[in-house]
Amino acid sequence: MSFYQEMRQYVLRHGAINNLYLDRFQRGDLTDEEIRQFAVEFYNFARFFPKILVAQLVNTEDETVANELTKVLYSELGDGHSRKRHELLYRDFLRSIGKDVHEAMTQQMLPSTKSYIEGMEQLYSSGNHATALGASFGLENMAITMWDHLIPGLTRLRATRYPAMDMTYFTFHRELESGHEEAMEKAVAAIDGGIDAGAGGLSVQEREDFHRGVKAVLDYLEGFWTGLEKAGFQRRQDLEGAAVAPGRLHEGATQLTG
Ligand SMILES: [Fe+2]
Ligand SMILES: [Fe+2]
Repeated sequence: MSFYQEMRQYVLRHGAINNLYLDRFQRGDLTDEEIRQFAVEFYNFARFFPKILVAQLVNTEDETVANELTKVLYSELGDGHSRKRHELLYRDFLRSIGKDVHEAMTQQMLPSTKSYIEGMEQLYSSGNHATALGASFGLENMAITMWDHLIPGLTRLRATRYPAMDMTYFTFHRELESGHEEAMEKAVAAIDGGIDAGAGGLSVQEREDFHRGVKAVLDYLEGFWTGLEKAGFQRRQDLEGAAVAPGRLHEGATQLTG
């Protein structure tokens, strides 16, 4: 198995895209509270992504890589049409499910979301080219699986509870994505000498650094979903607790002192 194939298999098996939360999301099995929380936490990612790209760009010496990054950033910012900035597409989604943009922007993010965003910025700006490339590789190779969990779930929620939902941000990104996987194939082939052969343009150290980047970004992303799962669970527990609270009071002093 070539290095490229090995890394791709690693991504596809990782908990970042194989987890309880995404499976539940795919079924559309989310409370209203959970869908709003997802919307806000994911918004942080959509909002900060250009900043992460800039962090990478200003730390990139290789001009070919810098050119590619510039293209991605330009696309993020709407390809010269400021109204088509991806973040604005996301705002349409927020509003369509009744979430206020100001509220979404000012609400404190979950610690797991913060770790994901800050971790990614750090990986991309660390100056280690192989690690940064590994992180991009991890993201681009998990993306189709992620959209293919989110979009069916949102489609179900739109059909059942959110008829006004605007899913453009999600479907638009899904369409862009196969191009990104191909670009990654080419990038790895360019430095490692061929997808099938994996002729070994990368040194052992560079392979390790690359793998570290893949793992780090996916671990952060897994944390992001786990954070949402836990927050939802906690909220349900609290609600159930509140619902049975009067009964508990009757149980008396043991509850209060115990
Ligand atoms: Fe985007
Ligand atoms: Fe992508």
